[in-house]
Amino acid sequence: MSHARAQAAMTASARSVPPTPDAGAGAAVQGLDAPAWVRHARLLEWVAAIAALAQPDRIHWCDGSQEEYDRLCEQMVGAGTLRRLNPAKRPNSFLALSDPGDVARVEDRTFICPEKREDAGPTNNWVEPREMRATLRGLFEGCMRGRTLYVVPFSMGPLGSHIAHVGIELTDSPYVAVSMRIMTRMGRTVYDILGEDGGFVPCVHSVGKPLAAGEADVPWPCSPTKYIVHFPETREIWSYGSGYGGNALLGKKCFALRIASNMGRQDVQSGGIGWLAEHMLILGVTSPEGRKYHVAAAFPSACGKTNFAMLVPPKAFEGWKVTTIGDDIAWIKPHSDGRLYAINPEAGFFGVAPGTSWKTNPNCLATLSENTIFTNVALTDDGDVWWEGLSEPPAHLIDWQGRDWTPADGKAGRKAAHPNSRFTVSIAQCPSIDPRWDSVDGVPIDAFIFGGRRSTTVPLVTEARDWVEGVYMAATMGSETTAAQAGATGVVRRDPFAMLPFCGYNMADYFAHWLDLGHRLQAGGAKLPKIFCVNWFRTDENGKFVWPGFGENMRVLKWMIDRLEGRAEGVEHVFGTSPRHGDLSWSGLDFNPADYAKISSIDKAAWVQELALHEELFERLAPRLPRALRAVKAQLEERLQTEGRAAA
Ligand code: GTP
Ligand code: SPV
Ligand code: MN
Repeated sequence: MSHARAQAAMTASARSVPPTPDAGAGAAVQGLDAPAWVRHARLLEWVAAIAALAQPDRIHWCDGSQEEYDRLCEQMVGAGTLRRLNPAKRPNSFLALSDPGDVARVEDRTFICPEKREDAGPTNNWVEPREMRATLRGLFEGCMRGRTLYVVPFSMGPLGSHIAHVGIELTDSPYVAVSMRIMTRMGRTVYDILGEDGGFVPCVHSVGKPLAAGEADVPWPCSPTKYIVHFPETREIWSYGSGYGGNALLGKKCFALRIASNMGRQDVQSGGIGWLAEHMLILGVTSPEGRKYHVAAAFPSACGKTNFAMLVPPKAFEGWKVTTIGDDIAWIKPHSDGRLYAINPEAGFFGVAPGTSWKTNPNCLATLSENTIFTNVALTDDGDVWWEGLSEPPAHLIDWQGRDWTPADGKAGRKAAHPNSRFTVSIAQCPSIDPRWDSVDGVPIDAFIFGGRRSTTVPLVTEARDWVEGVYMAATMGSETTAAQAGATGVVRRDPFAMLPFCGYNMADYFAHWLDLGHRLQAGGAKLPKIFCVNWFRTDENGKFVWPGFGENMRVLKWMIDRLEGRAEGVEHVFGTSPRHGDLSWSGLDFNPADYAKISSIDKAAWVQELALHEELFERLAPRLPRALRAVKAQLEERLQTEGRAAA
């Protein structure tokens, strides 16, 4: 595609023309059988083109009804993909066990394919789009043989919200179709919004396992060959070979983060003020006096977003209330009042099961009481689910690979639930749901929080002195890898803004977009949200977490609210402002100054090393790195040399 054509497609696709893939455009297909409520010519043409390429046996146009959901689940029970849980214990809920080779996002198989390599940037995998299209064409040819193609219409964001956007996912996985009904606003009303020529993001997904005539299916079809591909200029998503999570539920990471991050920046290029698509939870927090604030927080995968979004304040914090708007993704746009408003583009939680218990996250457990699809957790003898951290292990389980399991296996290091096992459930079932979670306008953001998983170095909480320093903190954040991505866990890597796997364009341009948006809002007289950096995960000499975390994180959240109100003290140090022991509320918790020192101290030698890692990131991003971030770094280095260490 020429640059001019790419530009044209880029500006056109948002509102009108979804690009027709190179699949023999307009190929007439027998048996399209579109229902009368689909009146969108280009959409029909596109479905026909994909069907001609992938050659499914039949096409099913999802209407999003309960009846359709029930029927597809029943069909998957018959196929062995789902197992119905004991209705007395877990009504209308199912367990899916995936192929052991398909258990998490595959970052090394994820591609961002703009025309120019530099536009993807050094942190993304890139292949020249023409070459990638040829590869995809080869893979998708005939890949749905023997299967049904589901046409899944969905809205990311409240239906009709000016912040929302529509996608259509074509998938050969009924598991994906039912999951999309939970995770998004899915169903035929989406076509009312699209009308005859509305814009949508075309998402094509196949598990990559065609069936020969008479060939029996397996419970979790997938392919060892995997491609998760994004064309940001034409706003297309193509996913092949995986049925799991963010690889396959294309509204989530592929659309709501990788494509939407592009949309938010492209908005500036077409004269708008720009917006943000972020890997953030959104919560409301109300003080005993009845003042309400909204906070958006970015933590990397499996680092505590779901828990923080549903936080239950400790007993001593009577009168404080935390309400949930989202647990994974935020779309954030400036309004005419100059403030940033956030919506949760999703309608469900696809959350980490292990570690979730009545003690750590009671709101989450209550949410999971019914109408839930569990994937890769263990099955109890009475037909319920179990995972590590839920309770004392039962005497016998069927593990996530369908094998017998006893606590002795656990002691030998074999997990009953996969560490990235998850639940899929509607957000509407969450007891802490915020009354405005579905508001078309979103909620105004008062503070941003960025947090990594760091056993050393990074203190419990630090407030940035200003927007630029906050952007620096977020940009240079490090975190230890988790089971949410395939590959080694526990490795510290830079994860800027918790967006390393999700930023759909050059990371240096993304930093500039954050800085520029801040400047534009400030120039208009707006008061920007405060920016904080947290770390719940410092460990002691025995490798144990020092900070109790979970509900106790309320103590940190309260300090932030007090800072917003100008009421809390802290001490300024090299990296910003942090509370001393006496600046936090400790009622109901015995947490002595010595322990506090372990999680708040700033070790000069460790920070000299840390800044060397910032430098490594900056060198990688050098060609487009905003100068303002270099300037912050130079200041920090100078302060570190002169001030030595900060008071803790
Ligand atoms: P994604 O859905 O992958 O984006 O992750 P998430 O950030 O929503 O992760 P989630 O909240 O589900 O947390 C995953 C793990 O972090 C669980 O094992 C939790 O037990 C653990 N966790 C959450 N909050 C805390 C905390 O405050 N302290 C400690 N030590 N662990 C926590
Ligand atoms: C994450 O890995 O950050 C998730 C799960 O939220 S997935 O949808 O698989 O990306
Ligand atoms: Mn996530």
